Amino acid sequence: MSVTAVVGLQWGDEAKGKIVDLLCQSANIVARFNGGDNAGHTVVNQYGKFKVRLTPNGFSSPGTACVIGPGVVVNPATLIEEVNSIQKYGINLEGRLWVSPRCHVVMPYHPIMESIFEQAKGKARTGTTKRGIGPVFADKVSYNGIRFFDLADDSLFAEKLRIQLAIKNPIFEAFGMAPLEFETVYQEKLEQYALLSQHVREAFGFVQDTLESGGHVLLEGAQGALLDNTWGSYPFCTASTPLSGGASAGLGLAPGQIQRVIGVAKAYTTRVGGGPMPTELFDQTGETLQREGQEFGTVTGRPRRCGWFDAELVRFTSQLNGVTELALTKLDVLDTLPKIKICTGYHIPETGERLQRYWEIDAHNLGRVKPVYIELDGWQTSTRAARDFANLPPQAQAYVNKVEELTGVAVKFISVGPEREATIRIQ
Ligand code: GDP
Ligand code: IMO
Ligand code: MG
Repeated sequence: MSVTAVVGLQWGDEAKGKIVDLLCQSANIVARFNGGDNAGHTVVNQYGKFKVRLTPNGFSSPGTACVIGPGVVVNPATLIEEVNSIQKYGINLEGRLWVSPRCHVVMPYHPIMESIFEQAKGKARTGTTKRGIGPVFADKVSYNGIRFFDLADDSLFAEKLRIQLAIKNPIFEAFGMAPLEFETVYQEKLEQYALLSQHVREAFGFVQDTLESGGHVLLEGAQGALLDNTWGSYPFCTASTPLSGGASAGLGLAPGQIQRVIGVAKAYTTRVGGGPMPTELFDQTGETLQREGQEFGTVTGRPRRCGWFDAELVRFTSQLNGVTELALTKLDVLDTLPKIKICTGYHIPETGERLQRYWEIDAHNLGRVKPVYIELDGWQTSTRAARDFANLPPQAQAYVNKVEELTGVAVKFISVGPEREATIRIQ
């Protein structure tokens, strides 16, 4: 019995998709357990380049099943489009893709609700991916959600939809927006459900049976620990839990069934959307990271904010996730830099007070701290062709060793390019 979780340790986009794609051939099941189509996971493998939002990254391994667990919220239109585009590559998902009927459905009113919240907050907005993720999870926890179970029953769905439109439409009208037509939404969702219904079945028994018979399950986290709804930089966070612990409820596993947790962290830090980011750079080095790392959001195309690696954050998120090993990605993006900094803690500029721990403060105060750095020599040579730790320049080896020392976790994967094979594995 073995379960490996692959989770993001920063603010998302750590290259979780690449690491999952790398490992998926040895997995019987790859499963998503959180988030929705706010995720954008890019993989480059033998079939080409894919940017997936909902389909678990086991699709390119023919013997692997792909499970969307009940903790995921699903926009049916996104999933239909994604399944079609994957199948165009000759990859068959029939009988291999399972979507839990417990998944909450992103309805057309959710992105509209979100736009009202974001507009009202102005500069203080979260800077979401505009997929309706906050509102669909809000409906879930306030018992107002619509699930695939409901779409399977026309009259039950009609009854629930009528109630939700009776609540939401007056809000839209109060904000000068057009109300949603019952018939349009009703028909659209039923048509989408008809296209997806062959995939909608609960995988709980399948997952448990697979584990009992010695199979391997790979969990694909979406977002990153610093976007967690509880431990992230609230309210600049997401609505679900991207932590390994979230996979227990989000897929249907006992906590003790997850033995291996691969924490994915970029060799620097990025963030897309609002909220504090202590190591953010506004200078030429920040521009270099953005250019070399092609740091533009997969879902929204927004430029990602870039800065130095924050070891204080990654040490905390490693603890929080029970990380057993690190995957340090995009090391090649640092190739041209003469000097490289790592943040080891913070201080408050007004008082000079040293503040070591992220978890002692809230997002507001995290926005006021200044990082304390150590500086290392850069290597100023390409690492893209390295496939062994020994092939890396000594300065790059020293950088990786420092990351291990400061985070307290062993680095077992080093990624030096977007391609599956551009990876160093350390035994
Ligand atoms: P995810 O959301 O965590 O799966 O990450 P994204 O796919 O959103 O963002 C990671 C981006 O970096 C993608 O465009 C990848 O193709 C790319 N990438 C992954 N690993 C590497 C690497 O080691 N080096 C470089 N230069 N790019 C990488
Ligand atoms: P992957 O899985 C990076 C961010 C948004 C915003 C905040 C809330 O590709 O790593 P939401 O739409 O979830 O309500 O937005 O969370 N965000 C991500 N940032 N990668 C992601 O996913 C993200 N998913 C959400 O930018 O700041
Ligand atoms: Mg992404």
